[in-house]
Amino acid sequence: MKALVYHGANQRAWEEVADPAIQDPTDVIIQIDTTTICGSDLHILKGDVAETTDGTIIGHEGVGTIVEVGSAVKKLKVGDRRVISCMTCCGACEYCRKGLTSKCRNVSFGDSWQLGHRINGTQAEFVRIPLAETSTFTIPEGVSDEEAVLCSDIFSTGFEIGVQYGNVQPAKTVICIGAGPVGLAAMKTAGLYSPTCVVAVDMDDNRLQMAVKDFGATHAVNNGKAGWQDEVLKIVGADGADVVMEAVGVPASLEACFPLVKPGGNVANIGVHGHPVSLPMEYLWTRNFTFTAGLVNMTTGQMMLDLIAAGKLDVKPMGTHHFKLDQMMDAWDIFGAAAKNNALKMIITK
Ligand SMILES: NC(=O)c1ccc[n+]([C@@H]2O[C@H](COP(=O)([O-])OP(=O)(O)OC[C@H]3O[C@@H](n4cnc5c(N)ncnc54)[C@H](O)[C@@H]3O)[C@@H](O)[C@H]2O)c1
Ligand SMILES: [Zn+2]
Ligand SMILES: [Zn+2]
Repeated sequence: MKALVYHGANQRAWEEVADPAIQDPTDVIIQIDTTTICGSDLHILKGDVAETTDGTIIGHEGVGTIVEVGSAVKKLKVGDRRVISCMTCCGACEYCRKGLTSKCRNVSFGDSWQLGHRINGTQAEFVRIPLAETSTFTIPEGVSDEEAVLCSDIFSTGFEIGVQYGNVQPAKTVICIGAGPVGLAAMKTAGLYSPTCVVAVDMDDNRLQMAVKDFGATHAVNNGKAGWQDEVLKIVGADGADVVMEAVGVPASLEACFPLVKPGGNVANIGVHGHPVSLPMEYLWTRNFTFTAGLVNMTTGQMMLDLIAAGKLDVKPMGTHHFKLDQMMDAWDIFGAAAKNNALKMIITK
C-alpha cells in the first residue's frame, strides 16, 4: 500500500510500504476512506518528537471501513464504518475507568497517543487499529466522512481540555488565545454552554475572521499590536475573563493568559509545549484561580458525532482544502504554510 512515511526531521515521503496485518486478537485493519493532518504532525516532521522514529507512518485522525478483525473482536465486523480515535485505550484499566483514557495502562509506553507517533498511523491506504472496540466510534446516520474525521481529535481536544477543564458555564466570559483548528474547536464548543462572550486572540487576521464568522467568537483581537490586552479587558471587564484557554503551545501565548484571568477563574492550557514557561507566582498566588493542562482523553468523541447528527454542531467550515490520498504530499505543502493558504483542515479522501 501507499503511506506518508516520516524519515527524520523535515523528511517525508508518500511511498510503497507493507500492508498492515493483525498482530493482537483485539486489532482490526481499517481501509482509510478519509484522513487529515494535525498541527501535532507538523511537530513530528520538525523533529520535535523524539520518540517517533524513522519509518513511522504519520497520522492519528481517520475514518474508514473495517476489512479484517482479530479473533477477540466481537462488537465490530468487516464492512463497519468507524471513526478512529487519536487515543488508543483498553476501556478497562484503572485510568480508563476514571475517564483518563489518555493514560491507559494497556498500551505500549503507557502512552495512549499510539497512532502516527509510537506505531504506524492513518495517513495511509490501510491502518492497524489496536484495542479497536474501545478506540473507535460509531458514525451516526447522516454524518459525512468529512464531518466525522474532525471528531478523531480536534473537537474533543478543544472541548475536553479547553471548555470542560476551563469550566465554561452559562453567562461566563471566555478568551481563547490561538485560533488554529484546535482553538476554533474550543471556541465553537464553548458555545454549547452559552457564555456571554468569546474573545478570539491570534496574530492571523484571516483566522480571527473565521473565528467570528463560523466558530462562535463574539469578538476578535489581534495580539500582534501593542495594547491588545487593554482591548481584551474592555470586552471581558477590567478584572479579566472567567475562562482563558490557550491553544498555541509556546511560552508567550501561555504567559499571556495569566494577567487576563479573573479571580476565581480558570486558565486551561491546550497547547503542546516543548519549552519551559515561567509562572509569575509572586503575583499569581493571590489570584485564587485554577490552572489546568492535559492530553485529550477522547471520552467525548461519540458525543461530538451525535451533536453533528442532531444538527447542534456545525463543523463543516473547518474543512478548507480537499485532496485525494495520492495528493498527500500536496496536502502537507498547503498545511505546512497554513497562514499563507488560509488553511484550516485538509480533507484527504480515498
Ligand atoms: N492537549 C492536547 O491533547 C492536544 C491535542 C491536539 C493538539 N494540541 C495542541 O494544540 C495546539 C493548537 O493546535 P492547532 O492544530 O490549532 O495549531 P496551529 O498551529 O494550527 O494553530 C496555532 C495558532 O496560534 C497562533 N499563534 C501563534 N503564536 C501565537 C501567539 N504568541 N499568540 C496568539 N496566537 C498565536 C497561530 O497564528 C495559529 O493560528 C498545538 O500546540 C497542538 O499541538 C493539543
Ligand atoms: Zn492531533
Ligand atoms: Zn486502559
